[in-house]
Amino acid sequence: MSRAPSPLTSLPKSLDAALRPGNWDEYVGQKQVKANVRISIDAAKKRGGMPEHILFYGPPGVGKTTLAHLVAATLDAPLKSTSGVAIERAGDLAAILTNLEPGTVLFIDEIHRLSRKIEELLYPALESGHLDIVLGKGPSARTVELALSPFTLIGATTRVAELSGPLRSRFGGGVFQLDFYNDDDLRDIIRRSALLLDLKAPENVIERIAARSRATPRVANALLKRVRDFSEVHDRKLSPELCDEACELFGIDARGLTKDDRRYLETLLKSFRGGPAGVRAIASGLHEDPDTVEHVYEPYLLRLGFIERSPRGRILTLQGRSYLNGEDAGAMF
Ligand SMILES: Nc1ncnc2c1ncn2[C@@H]1O[C@H](COP(=O)(O)OP(=O)(O)O)[C@@H](O)[C@H]1O
Ligand SMILES: [Mg+2]
Repeated sequence: MSRAPSPLTSLPKSLDAALRPGNWDEYVGQKQVKANVRISIDAAKKRGGMPEHILFYGPPGVGKTTLAHLVAATLDAPLKSTSGVAIERAGDLAAILTNLEPGTVLFIDEIHRLSRKIEELLYPALESGHLDIVLGKGPSARTVELALSPFTLIGATTRVAELSGPLRSRFGGGVFQLDFYNDDDLRDIIRRSALLLDLKAPENVIERIAARSRATPRVANALLKRVRDFSEVHDRKLSPELCDEACELFGIDARGLTKDDRRYLETLLKSFRGGPAGVRAIASGLHEDPDTVEHVYEPYLLRLGFIERSPRGRILTLQGRSYLNGEDAGAMF
C-alpha cells in the first residue's frame, strides 16, 4: 500500500540536473569521501588505467549520483547510467557490458535491486573483465569467455545491508558512506543554488531553509524552489516571515518534519505506547509500505534522536516525546 513519495523526496529531473555540482569545489562537504575518491582517480590517471570499482551508500538525495558524474568528468570518461531495477535478465547485463566504450564509468543506481543471478554474472566482469556466456542448452551447452573493455563500476544504494557480501567485496576502490549534511554545508549549498536560480536570498532565509531541509541537499534545493514559487505568486520578497508562511502551507515544521513524520511518531506513542515496536507493525498502523517507513521516514527521525532502534523494535525517545508535546528544545524557530 505505498503512496506517492513526498514532494520533498523527489525533485523534477531538470532541477536536479541544473543544480548539480559540476566540479569538486562545488561539491560541498563529505570531505573524506571526496579525498579518497580523488586519490583513486589520480592514481588511475597516472597509471593510464581506470580506477577500481566504487560503491556509495546513504539516504536519498545526499549526492551519490552527483559523485558518479564527477568521477566520470574527472576521468574524462563516458558515463553510462542504469539501475538495478532495469537489469532483469542476464541478457540485459550482457548487452550493457558488451556495448561499453573502453574506459567507461558504468553507474548502477539502486544496485541492491540486482538479482542473485545477475550479481553472479557480474563477478567475473568486475574481477577479471570478462563475461561467461552460456551457449546452447542441455548436454551440448558450453561456456565461452567474452573479454570486456576496461570499465569502472560505480554502484549506489540506499540499502547497503541488502547487498550480498561477495558483491560488496568486489568494490576494490572503496565502499563509502555518504552522511547527512551539517547546517553550514547545507547553507553553502542553498546559497549556491539561490545564485544559480538568480534569487536574492538573505542569510536569515538561507538559515531557515537549511534548518528545514532534513540535512539533505536535494530537499534543500526543492524547498528553496518551493519558497521561491510562493514568493513569486504572492509577489513578495524572500524573508523569514514569508519562509514560515510558505512552510506552514507545505506542512513542513521548524524541524523539517512533515505530517507523515508526525503521524509516525504519534502512532509509535499512541498505538505502541512509545515502543518497542517492529517496523512492520508501525507501517501497518500507518497504512504505509514498510520499506518507505524504514528508508524514507526513519533515517532522519533517527538522526534527530526522536526514535531509537533496539533489538525489539523502534522506541520513541524523550526528545521524540518532547517534540510531540510541543516542547522541542532543539527547534530553532
Ligand atoms: N555535496 C553536494 N554539494 C552540493 N549539492 C549537492 C551535494 N550533494 C547533492 N547535491 C544536490 O542535491 C541533488 C541530489 O543529489 P544526488 O546526487 O542526485 O543524490 P542521490 O543520488 O544520493 O540521491 C543534486 O542535484 C545536487 O543539486
Ligand atoms: Mg541518485
